[in-house]
Amino acid sequence: HDVVVVYGGTSAEREVSLKSGAAILAALQRSGVRAVGYDPYDRGLSGLEQLAPATVFIALHGRGGEDGSLQGALELLDIPYTGSGVLASALGMDKQRTKQVWQALGLPTPECIMLDAESDWHAVAETLGLPLIVKPVHEGSTLGISIVDSVAELAAAYQEAARFDARVMAERFIQGDEYTVALLGERVLPAIRVEVPGGFYDYNAKYLTNTTQYHLPCGLSDADEAELATLCQEAFRAVGGAGWGRVDVMRDAQGRFWLIEVNTVPGMTDHSLVPQAAAHTGMDFDQLVMEILATAGH
Ligand code: DAL
Ligand code: MG
Repeated sequence: HDVVVVYGGTSAEREVSLKSGAAILAALQRSGVRAVGYDPYDRGLSGLEQLAPATVFIALHGRGGEDGSLQGALELLDIPYTGSGVLASALGMDKQRTKQVWQALGLPTPECIMLDAESDWHAVAETLGLPLIVKPVHEGSTLGISIVDSVAELAAAYQEAARFDARVMAERFIQGDEYTVALLGERVLPAIRVEVPGGFYDYNAKYLTNTTQYHLPCGLSDADEAELATLCQEAFRAVGGAGWGRVDVMRDAQGRFWLIEVNTVPGMTDHSLVPQAAAHTGMDFDQLVMEILATAGH
């Protein structure tokens, strides 16, 4: 086979990955690529080597696929793959250590505090202010994330996040607008502003409802959009990102941008953001998939 699309997997984002992978596989096949899908959920990686892929298209989200482990296995098997390498994948999956890299480079990202069951909730709220965000360090698609409005809710928010991850953080909440910026090869695609009427861009708003509004063009001035694009490119390079990815950003009431996270295998479902940004530049889904494929290497 020319290309094996690895998708599904065992992470909490399995359902999202099944959709991303099916869309990618169909696009490759429409483009005449001899491609098959492979779901590690069934038999780990044992069957992948037998398929003898020339290239692996990684469409796994979350742990066990987006986090550097599959990338490392493919390095050892000497099989080229799409997207970031081991280090950037592992860093991108760790929201706390991503922040530490950004902070070391002077890039703006909201302050965070690591939580455990014994944390002093009052001190956390005092330091970060309210509302604040509680999130698992290694999760995607907003799973396990809460916005906390009062100290009394903090313990429950911690418990919810801890269902997903042994490491949980609280992050300063940036009141303002949410943007996302896709990176493709050396290019920065147009920013999208995400607006959830009356709510929070959570799993439901990302994948299930059709009420989320995607503003593209995003409404920023050219100068502000250029600043955002440069910031996102710097943020992606800072973690060593390669091939393609997506950086999520908040813009506060004073117009300052704050880096939230980097996604090294962004969603490619019919609701997803990277395909929308590509479409705005005149690139349809099939062309996007072929461009991502072309960035594969090691
Ligand atoms: N983690 C999801 C798939 C995304 O970032 O698009
Ligand atoms: Mg993410």
